[in-house]
Amino acid sequence: MEVVTASPEETERLAARLAALLEPGDVVSVSGELGAGKTTFVRGAARALGVSGPVSSPTFTIGHRYEAPTPVAHLDLYRVQGIDPEEWGDLEPYFDDAVAFVEWPEHGGDWLPAARAVVTLGHVDETHRIVRIDSDLGL
Ligand SMILES: Nc1ncnc2c1ncn2[C@@H]1O[C@H](COP(=O)(O)OP(=O)(O)O)[C@@H](O)[C@H]1O
Ligand SMILES: [Mg+2]
Repeated sequence: MEVVTASPEETERLAARLAALLEPGDVVSVSGELGAGKTTFVRGAARALGVSGPVSSPTFTIGHRYEAPTPVAHLDLYRVQGIDPEEWGDLEPYFDDAVAFVEWPEHGGDWLPAARAVVTLGHVDETHRIVRIDSDLGL
């Protein structure tokens, strides 16, 4: 599916619809240029899965993990330049039994588990974003 959202809230609502279809173990890749709305999308999904605190981009760590009713992992691989087995050892626990969202999945190479849904965001103008969701979840 592909839609244009007109506000961050609309992007969050769309993410919540996807979140309702996800289960622990699922990985969602979230691609798009800086400012496209990747973190906004993850925030909406995380809220829908029961995460109550702030959801912001991991900056000083590679990821956040929220032990909500459904554990939620949020990874940002922007600074990652290729993963080796040791780095994968650090990353793997984020995915354990969680619904995992990965920004900049392209930087993860072949190490990431297969995505259940592939989300791609792009700028239309200041307040509009094109959001494409590829999955077999019936969204
Ligand atoms: N329709 C929209 N969907 C998502 N974000 C939007 C939209 N319109 C404006 N924005 C703004 O764009 C910015 C997106 O930032 P962010 O989600 O951190 O992007 P990224 O993680 O892709 O770098 C936020 O400041 C947000 O308020
Ligand atoms: Mg981000």
